[in-house]
Amino acid sequence: KRPVIIDCDTGTDDAIALVAALNCDALDVRAITCVSGNVDLCYTAPNTLNLCRMLGFDVKVAQGSPKPICRDLNDIRLVGNEDEGTISTHGQTGMGNVTLPQCGGDFYEKNAVETIYEEALACGGKLELIAVGPMTNVALALLCHPDLKDLIAHIWFMGGAAYGGNTTAVAEFNILCDPEAAHLVMQSGIDMTMVGLDVTEKAAVPDAACDEIRAIGTKDATVVADILDFMRMRRDEYGGEDTLMHDALAVAAACVPGVVKTSRYFVDTECAGTYTFGHTFVAKDDRFGKFTPNCNVAEEVDMDIFLGWLRSCIQNSKK
Ligand code: BDR
Ligand code: CA
Repeated sequence: KRPVIIDCDTGTDDAIALVAALNCDALDVRAITCVSGNVDLCYTAPNTLNLCRMLGFDVKVAQGSPKPICRDLNDIRLVGNEDEGTISTHGQTGMGNVTLPQCGGDFYEKNAVETIYEEALACGGKLELIAVGPMTNVALALLCHPDLKDLIAHIWFMGGAAYGGNTTAVAEFNILCDPEAAHLVMQSGIDMTMVGLDVTEKAAVPDAACDEIRAIGTKDATVVADILDFMRMRRDEYGGEDTLMHDALAVAAACVPGVVKTSRYFVDTECAGTYTFGHTFVAKDDRFGKFTPNCNVAEEVDMDIFLGWLRSCIQNSKK
């Protein structure tokens, strides 16, 4: 099994990504680090801890940064806010309609930055990161520990888009929340794969597959199905986002060869710009040879492979 840390802002689709990762045969989830994003850290961290303990996973859960490196999340979350009378993408507390039992357990004694560093040292250069929220924790870890960049084997991140955005016309939510963090990570020299909107906006779970997941019948399957039902309700009643598995697709990309097709490009984030703030620049056209590729960019997704993987991870919860 490959050692990974998942950095997340749980979050409905983050929660599904965690259930898949924790049950996936390919991964040894050494720790989960939490960050503010979809909702504040005071929700994302307990959501993560309570979810893991409810499902019987004794994995370390560490608290990370309550805010982006140099911005206010409320400014970002207001961009493109929905009309009054609708409910936000992840619900009030980040978990849709799901109420998790309070486990009463403890967070890991170290914060996210120190947890990432500790595990990177312990894994001797083999640790991979799967970042599915704003990249604040990862960037701060790289700033605090300059040797960390040589200890991380790969970063898989959900964020950005070569084309378009979902929070502004050109910016994806995770990147827009903390563009400076994304820039620092992208320019760190660590090998990385971007799983952006180009593929994740194709990764909706069809209604029949949602019902099949519920039929698995375990606690893990039930929580995933309850989240999917919340997403379907939002989509049907308010015309909100479909059941898009942004974050689970990033986990799948790390686990399953062929689930996404990638090409290597130079990628960076716009930290300023009248209209392009938070945009991920993907140098597909490098006619003057100025941009050295630093990132595998997912351009196509095989939904049969993805849905098969997701189902089989959740099936594993029967074991
Ligand atoms: C990303 O933003 C969040 O809403 C999701 O959890 C995902 O990580 C998609 O833009
Ligand atoms: Ca997320």
